[in-house]
Amino acid sequence: MRLKASVLIAEDEAQARESLRALLEDEGYQVICAPDGMQAAAILSRSTVEAALVDIRMPFKDGLALLRELREHPAPPAVLIMTAYGSSAAAIEAMALGAFDYITKPLNFEELRIQLQRAIENRRRISELEAYKIEEDAHQESEIVGNGPAMQRLYKLIGQVSATDSTVLIRGESGTGKEVVARAIHKHSLRGGRRLVKVNCASIPETLLEAELFGHERGAFTGASQRRIGKFEYAAGGTIFLDEIGELAPSTQVKLLRVLQDYCIERLGSNITIPLDVRILAATNCDLELAVRENRFREDLYYRLNVVTIPVPPLRQRREDIPDLANFLLRRCAARLRMQAPTLSEEVKELLCNNDWPGNVRELEHCLERALILNRSGAILREHIQLSASPSAADSVDSFSIEDGLHSAVEKLERRLIERALAATGGNRTRAAEILKINRRLLYDKMREYGLE
Ligand SMILES: Nc1ncnc2c1ncn2[C@@H]1O[C@H](COP(=O)(O)OP(=O)(O)OP(=O)(O)O)[C@@H](O)[C@H]1O
Ligand SMILES: [Mg+2]
Repeated sequence: MRLKASVLIAEDEAQARESLRALLEDEGYQVICAPDGMQAAAILSRSTVEAALVDIRMPFKDGLALLRELREHPAPPAVLIMTAYGSSAAAIEAMALGAFDYITKPLNFEELRIQLQRAIENRRRISELEAYKIEEDAHQESEIVGNGPAMQRLYKLIGQVSATDSTVLIRGESGTGKEVVARAIHKHSLRGGRRLVKVNCASIPETLLEAELFGHERGAFTGASQRRIGKFEYAAGGTIFLDEIGELAPSTQVKLLRVLQDYCIERLGSNITIPLDVRILAATNCDLELAVRENRFREDLYYRLNVVTIPVPPLRQRREDIPDLANFLLRRCAARLRMQAPTLSEEVKELLCNNDWPGNVRELEHCLERALILNRSGAILREHIQLSASPSAADSVDSFSIEDGLHSAVEKLERRLIERALAATGGNRTRAAEILKINRRLLYDKMREYGLE
């Protein structure tokens, strides 16, 4: 069993404080007491407690001021605010400031016991999440490679937007490095020391996405057995990166618009409005203008997101960066696979520079990873490189005969292009569909038709 949690009681009335202490110690908690807000703040600044029972009215520093300070705390406790019966305005403000819950005086001990348990469980879940996040971040390199003119322009833009808090829309083909750019913007911004929370809008089912973004109260929907904070709240003080924004369902688009207009959210199942201090970065490889024209994407949301756009150029428009990128990716991949990084022959470099890379940097990365695994000699040679050559070059009309008939020849070509797109994206269907400029539905249908599943 886990150690019983440490709990801070901040309460100015001595009698109330001591009876709470006795009660919680009986429950097995480690209890620390503070007779006013100032001393509570001092305790919190030097020790980590998992939960705090905080009276709203205290001398020197009241409960709300304490909550406000805790927003800067690296590992804040879950706070239960104690308010006088009927002071709903203060309770609402406390919730908005991040209190886990509030409890009215006179205290009902049974209720308090349950709320405290819940608060601690919730906080433990969050810190687990956080530990996971830190681990994940350690694996993420934010280094951007490339020194050609296109990348120089990109760096300048990143520098300019980093200094501001404005919403940025990062656009570019699949695999061009949009996420790398988002990380760089965050890292160089004033929020760089804070959290960067990523949400992939395409990979989370529509029904779960809103709960994921905005959080929910207990009982907000079937299965919501606990209150949970959403990614927006989790990113407070930092940055949220909304990837694949073009895939948002209409109902979620409305809610996101609201966030961008008012910078506040409501958890599902709650009507308490929580103010947000979050910088929003979004990315897409969709043709958003087309989506707007076809009424798949709200025009008002489009304008809100499109304050500053950063276009990430496709790799074929910055071939000068390919040798540096190839070396970097090869070294990184070798380190991950615990292999020696081989050298690239001149011939191979030339081959890589002349390829079109429809799947961009990610495709280059996959190609090098294959080569790394196939080579046995410490040098990567031409035969280790498999390119998904551009269809116009490789599929010369010669490989189809008139006798095939038009339909069968077209099917053959179609099938081959789909295979290539899938190979180029490592089997990622969303991206393959993007490359082929068809929607995912159609790609699925075609894959089924050609038995490519
Ligand atoms: N300029 C760069 N320098 C170093 N690595 C890069 C660069 N651009 C991309 N990469 C690497 O290429 C891969 C793809 O990049 P990323 O995930 O940022 O692309 P993306 O544009 O978000 O793609 P998608 O649209 O498929 O989500 C990652 O492994 C990333 O580390
Ligand atoms: Mg991405």
